[in-house]
Amino acid sequence: MNIIETKNVTYQYPDGTNALENINFSAAKGKIIALLGPNGAGKSTLFLHFNGILQPTSGNVMVDGKCLKYKKEDLMNLRQKVGIVFQNPDDQLFAPTVQEDVAFGPMNLGLSKEEVKKRVDESLRRVEMVEFKKKAPHHLSGGQKKRVAIAGILAMHPKIMVLDEPTSGLDPRGASRIMKLLYELNREGITIIISTHDVDLVPLYAHTVYIISKGNIIKKGNPQEVFEDAQTIRKANLRLPRIAHLMEILQKEDKLPFDKPYPLTIGEARRRICNQIKD
Ligand SMILES: Nc1ncnc2c1ncn2[C@@H]1O[C@H](COP(=O)(O)OP(=O)(O)OP(=O)(O)O)[C@@H](O)[C@H]1O
Ligand SMILES: [Mg+2]
Repeated sequence: MNIIETKNVTYQYPDGTNALENINFSAAKGKIIALLGPNGAGKSTLFLHFNGILQPTSGNVMVDGKCLKYKKEDLMNLRQKVGIVFQNPDDQLFAPTVQEDVAFGPMNLGLSKEEVKKRVDESLRRVEMVEFKKKAPHHLSGGQKKRVAIAGILAMHPKIMVLDEPTSGLDPRGASRIMKLLYELNREGITIIISTHDVDLVPLYAHTVYIISKGNIIKKGNPQEVFEDAQTIRKANLRLPRIAHLMEILQKEDKLPFDKPYPLTIGEARRRICNQIKD
């Protein structure tokens, strides 16, 4: 079942920019879906449709099989279900302290003080930001802000988490920790939708990958299917995962017997190389 679906969504910004054209995107319940695309492709614009911040110029957005309605009350219900972590944490964080920021959403749900505190502590623990809870968000580093923004959404216990470039600005360990957290949350039943430029992380975590370029979806499939089409990937100003690129060079330039589909992760490449040596 598709928990989020867009049908022929087109979006034009008030200044006339055509940011999305006939987008048919679907997120299957319980999966991790990655949206890949170069700068200006329309990733953030599409994501802002998922919780009704933007309304399509034409077409429909459906959540849980129902077309979105844009009345205040409908939007409040929707935003409990679909939590969005913005690309820029400064668009998200506003309270005087980290803990107040994370508490804001749950407090608005009318939960008890104890429950709010429990959720704040738990969310900050999961993003490893407990020790910063009394700090002002604007005194945090970029990566720390990003983690607090994620905690703020986590504390709402959404069914769907939409994260616009969750790993950008994070150091390698921080990025991999966040991806592991998203993987864990997904195992707990949350549908995860992320946008990213980090093609190396995609095959490790995503069940489904979409490629967006100039406001159009130009490819959809599982990571193997999508990255097999190197031509489309490169045409969209993206690249193959480094491992796949190395295998492509070894095959094409050095004539080593690594056939397509190229491995996409270190684990797969390791198996392939070991098998080759043993043969
Ligand atoms: N508020 C706005 N008004 C007018 N045009 C906008 C606005 N926001 C974005 N755009 C334009 O819409 C297009 C899509 O932008 P969007 O921010 O969705 O891209 P993106 O894929 O998220 O890029 P990035 O990887 O840089 O975050 C771009 O051409 C951009 O210039
Ligand atoms: Mg963006």
